[in-house]
Amino acid sequence: MLIAGNWKMYKRASETADFCLGLSPPPGVDVVICPPYTSLAMAAASGVTVYAQNVHWASEGAFTGEVSAEMLLDLGVKGSIVGHSERRQHFCETDETAWSRAEHALEAGLGVIYCVGEQEEEREAGHTEEVLRRQVSVLQPREGLVVAYEPVWAIGTGRTATAKQAQDAHAFIKSLVKVPVLYGGSVKPENAQELLSQQDIDGALVGGASLEVESFRAICETAARLS
Ligand code: PGA
Repeated sequence: MLIAGNWKMYKRASETADFCLGLSPPPGVDVVICPPYTSLAMAAASGVTVYAQNVHWASEGAFTGEVSAEMLLDLGVKGSIVGHSERRQHFCETDETAWSRAEHALEAGLGVIYCVGEQEEEREAGHTEEVLRRQVSVLQPREGLVVAYEPVWAIGTGRTATAKQAQDAHAFIKSLVKVPVLYGGSVKPENAQELLSQQDIDGALVGGASLEVESFRAICETAARLS
């Protein structure tokens, strides 16, 4: 079971240090935090497993504002989120650019949490499987690749997919590509048990509830009990 905390654009380095001191991940579960770039070095120095939130497809070059897999490895970072819906929505990320990022990161030796998920209108129109099929079609199973199913309508909204909706989507993704699949979208201590007990849910990508060490630890402890 893998529990990853996506901090998005929250927490300075000093707040990161305080969080890591208080975390103490339980045994039996892989715990990862994904701070913003400016807090990666502080987090990695604490001994917690650290992933970035994005990574470029080139090793170096004229790509203002981007960071490469090699630069992350140099800091002790072990992986990266790729293709998060906020990157797709606000920064023109496509299935093709996301897979280029992931492919280079995996080749360089980073783990990748590759995000997919349908928007609300797509679910309402009955297009969930079609969207997931398109998003997953660019993936090639590789060592270190994990998918996160994050229905866009459940991210940061407090609305969680029902355990059945999540289980059905996970089983569908796994029928297309043989990789572990995390669930993301308003995971909290109160719903973690039900979601994480589903057969095809292999962990969680947690946003809001990963910002407080108590709630993140509670989700990690639930995962440890179920492992
Ligand atoms: P949330 O975010 O848990 O706040 O819904 C999840 C994510 O965006 O990865």
